[in-house]
Amino acid sequence: MKSAEIRRRFLDYFVTKGHTEVESASLIPHNDPTLMFTAAGMVPFKDCFLGAEKRAYTRATTAQRCVRAGGKHNDLENVGYTARHHTFFEMLGNFSFGDYFKREAIQFAWEFLTKELGLPEEKLWVTVHISDDEAERIWKEEIGVSPERFSKLDEDNFWSAGDVGPCGPSTEIFYDHGADVAGGPPGSPDEDGDRYIEIWNLVFMQYDRDEAGNKNPLPNPSIDTGMGLERLAAVLQNVHSNYEIDLFVNLIKAASEVTGCTDLENRSLRVIADHIRSCAFLIADGVLPSNEGRGYVLRRIIRRALRHGNKLGAPAIFFSKLVDALIAEMGEAYPVLKEQRDNVVRALHAEEEQFGRTLANGMKLLEAEMQAAEGKQIDGETVFKLYDTYGFPADLTADVARENGFSIDEAGFEAAMDEQRQRAREASNFKAGAKVDLSAADATKFDGYDTLSQQAKVVALFKEGAAVESLAAGEAGRLVLDQTPFYAESGGQCGDTGFIFDEANNVRVTDCQKQGDIHLHSIEVLKGDIKVGQAVSTSVDADEREAIARHHSATHLAHAALRQILGAHVEQKGSMVTADRLRFDFAHNEAMTVEQIEAVEALVNQQIVANGEVSTKLMSMDEAKESGAMMLFGEKYGDEVRVLAMGEDRFSVELCGGTHVKRTGDIGYFRIISEGGIAAGIRRIEAVTGPAAATYINDNRRALNTIGATLKAAPEMAAEKVVALTKKTRELEKQLEQLQQKLAASAGADLASSAQEINGIKLVAAKVEAQGGALRDMVDQLKDKLGSGVVLLAADNDGKVSLAAGVTKDLIGKIKAGDLVKQAAEKVDGRGGGKPDFAQAGGKNPTGIDDALQVAVSLLS
Ligand code: SER
Repeated sequence: MKSAEIRRRFLDYFVTKGHTEVESASLIPHNDPTLMFTAAGMVPFKDCFLGAEKRAYTRATTAQRCVRAGGKHNDLENVGYTARHHTFFEMLGNFSFGDYFKREAIQFAWEFLTKELGLPEEKLWVTVHISDDEAERIWKEEIGVSPERFSKLDEDNFWSAGDVGPCGPSTEIFYDHGADVAGGPPGSPDEDGDRYIEIWNLVFMQYDRDEAGNKNPLPNPSIDTGMGLERLAAVLQNVHSNYEIDLFVNLIKAASEVTGCTDLENRSLRVIADHIRSCAFLIADGVLPSNEGRGYVLRRIIRRALRHGNKLGAPAIFFSKLVDALIAEMGEAYPVLKEQRDNVVRALHAEEEQFGRTLANGMKLLEAEMQAAEGKQIDGETVFKLYDTYGFPADLTADVARENGFSIDEAGFEAAMDEQRQRAREASNFKAGAKVDLSAADATKFDGYDTLSQQAKVVALFKEGAAVESLAAGEAGRLVLDQTPFYAESGGQCGDTGFIFDEANNVRVTDCQKQGDIHLHSIEVLKGDIKVGQAVSTSVDADEREAIARHHSATHLAHAALRQILGAHVEQKGSMVTADRLRFDFAHNEAMTVEQIEAVEALVNQQIVANGEVSTKLMSMDEAKESGAMMLFGEKYGDEVRVLAMGEDRFSVELCGGTHVKRTGDIGYFRIISEGGIAAGIRRIEAVTGPAAATYINDNRRALNTIGATLKAAPEMAAEKVVALTKKTRELEKQLEQLQQKLAASAGADLASSAQEINGIKLVAAKVEAQGGALRDMVDQLKDKLGSGVVLLAADNDGKVSLAAGVTKDLIGKIKAGDLVKQAAEKVDGRGGGKPDFAQAGGKNPTGIDDALQVAVSLLS
C-alpha cells in the first residue's frame, strides 16, 4: 500500500468515527514561545486539551507534518544510525477533546490496525504505563491481547509535548519485524534494535504540568494519538527500514544522482534524503537559516546534510537540487511546498555557497586534530574553533567524531562559548560605560508612560564608575533616582534626554541606560552641586520623546505591514528607534522591490490616516497569547506582559515595553528611506516619520530642484533628461576614443619619416601621446609604413609608462620584439614581454623613458 493511500485510509477511517479532518498545521507552532517546532500531531491542539480554546468539534483527525530536531523532542543525532528515526516525518493522529477516553481510543486503534489494515495480531505488542490498571484491563479483557505480548513500562509510557503543558500516561503499539532483525521487545535490554518498532502511541491526556513540575488535572480527560506514517508504511510495504518505503525510494535515487554515490544503501544518502525533507518544509513554513533559535536548528540540519554530501564527494551545490524530487513526492499532499519552491531553492543554495567556502578547510583541521589526538576525544577549544571560524555546529563535529570513534568535549566547548558571550557582553556594555556597583540601590520606579516630569530623590551618584556623594558644576557622571520619567534604552528604543534640577541646581541628562532594573542617567552638571539624598524635579525633553514615540509606533506598523506584503517568515531580528529615524532588521531572503517598498509605506500610512487609538494593556502571558500578540521564539517573558495593539482590526499586536503615540495619526507620515542586506537572509530598512519625514522629503526636493535648474528642465522631467544626458555622454566618450585612435595613427605615419638607420635596419624609437590600444595600432601602422624595420614607442599616462615594440617579420631572426621590450622596460622600473614581432610592457618610472628608447639604438648598433 502506497503512503498516500495509507494517509487517506487513516483519515477516512476516523471521519467515519465522527472525527473532523483538519489540515496539517505549519511546522512553526502558532504563537508559542515554549515550543521549537511542531513535533507531534497534538501541538496545534494544545490549547484545546487545556480547555483554553473551544472548537466546533470535539473529535479531530490529522496527518501532521512534524520536525524533531532541537528542542525537547530531538532525533537529529539518530538520523542515519537507525532505520526509523527522522528529522521530518508525518504523524497520523486522532484526537478527543473531552469526548471519548481510553476505551474508545484503544478500540479504534486496534480495529484500524487489525481489521482495516489486516495486520496479524500476533505481530503486535502492547505496552501501558505501570500505574495504568484500567488500560491493562481494557487491553487484556476487552480486546483480548495475549499477556505474552504485553508489558508495563514507566517513563516510556508517559508523554508530554514540552516541559509545561498537557501530558499523561500512554499506551503504545509495537510491530514485530521478525526474528531476522536484531532487537528485543519493549522493556527488554536490547529494545533499541530495529526488530520491535513502536508504530502507535495513544496518550491519555490527563494533566497540565506547570513550571514547578506539578501535574494539575485537566478539566476534561482527552485523547492524543500519534502514528508515524513512515513506520506504518514500512510494515505495510514489507520492508524493515523506513528508508525503503515508496516515499524515500525516489528521493534516495535523486540524492544518488546529485552526489554521484551509486551505493543506494549508503548511510549518507539516507541522511541527505531525510534532511532535505525537514529543511525544505521548514523553509516553506517560513524559517530561514540563521545563528539563533529555529533558524539555527535549520542551519545545523542543512550543514549536516552538506557534510554528508561532501563525504560522498558531491559537488558544492547538490542539496538545493533535490527540492524538485521532493516536490514530485510530496507536493500533492503539501501544496505549500510547491508554492514556496523558489524560496526554498534559493535559501538552500545560498547556504550551500556560504558553507561550501569553509567546509573543506574545517574538515582538514578536524582530521588533523583526530590524527594528532592522544585520546579519543576532541577538545573543546577545537570544537569551538570549528564553530567560530569554519561554521561547524557542535553536533556536526560530534557526528564526524562519532564516525571515527571519537567524542567531543562538550563542557569545554560550552566554556569557550561562554567566554565568547562574556566578551560580547563586555563589548556591548561599552556604551553605558563600566558597570557600577548598584547592590545598595532598589529598582528604579519608572513613571515615564504617564508623565514626563515629577519629583524624585537622588539615590546614588557615580564619577568614572566610582560612587561619590556629590558632583559639582562642570563635572559629568551618572545618577540614580528613586523614581524617574526617563526611559532607559531597551527594546531598541533609545534612552531619553532632558533635565534634572531644583532652585540651586541644573543638570543635563544626555542619555539613560538600564543596569538590571535600575535607570542610570548620564549627566552633565551645569549649575550648583548635586548631592545624594537631594530632592529634585525631573523633566524629559518632550519634543524628543514625541519624535521617538512616532518612530517606535511606526516600527510596529511597519513590522505588521512587512509581514502582510512579504510573508509570515518576516521576523524581527533587530530594531533601533531614535528621534531622527527608525531602523528595523528582519528575516527575508532578497532585496525588496520598489513596488514592495511602496506597498509597505502605503499600508502603514493607511493605518496612520485611520487614526485609531493605540491601546496598552498589562495582562498575563496566557491572555496575551489569546489576544494574538506577536511573540519572539526563545524570548523570556515575565508572568505579566505589556501588550500594545494599534491600527484597524488590531493591525499590529505586539508585546512591548516602549513608549508610544496615543493615536496612530500622531505619527503623521511614514517613509522608508533605505533598504539593504546586512547578513545572509537579513534585510534592514530605515524609515522616518512626521517632521523627520518632511525634512527628508524637502531635502530630496531641493536636490531635485538643483538638478532641474542645472539641466534647465522642470523637476518632473529631470530624470528623463539625466538618462538622455548620460547616454549622450557615453556616445561622446566613444567618439572621442575613436578620434584619438585616428590621430594616433596619423601621428604614427608622421613618425615613419623620422626613422633612423642603424646597421642597415630602419628604427623608429619615440615617445608618443597614446594609450593601450592606440599604441599598438601605431606600432602596426609604422611597421606597414617602414616595410622592414624596428619600432619602439613609449607613452606616459599620468606617471604610468606604456612601452610597445614591433619588428617586421623579415627581421625577427636578428632582433625580437619581446627581448627589446624586456630590456627597455628595466629602464622604467617595469616588466613585460611578448612575441618576436610584437611585445608590450608597463613601467612606473617616466623619467627612464629616454634611456628605454636608447636601448633600441644600442641593441641594433
Ligand atoms: N503526542 C504523542 C506522540 O507524539 C501521541 O501523538 O507520540
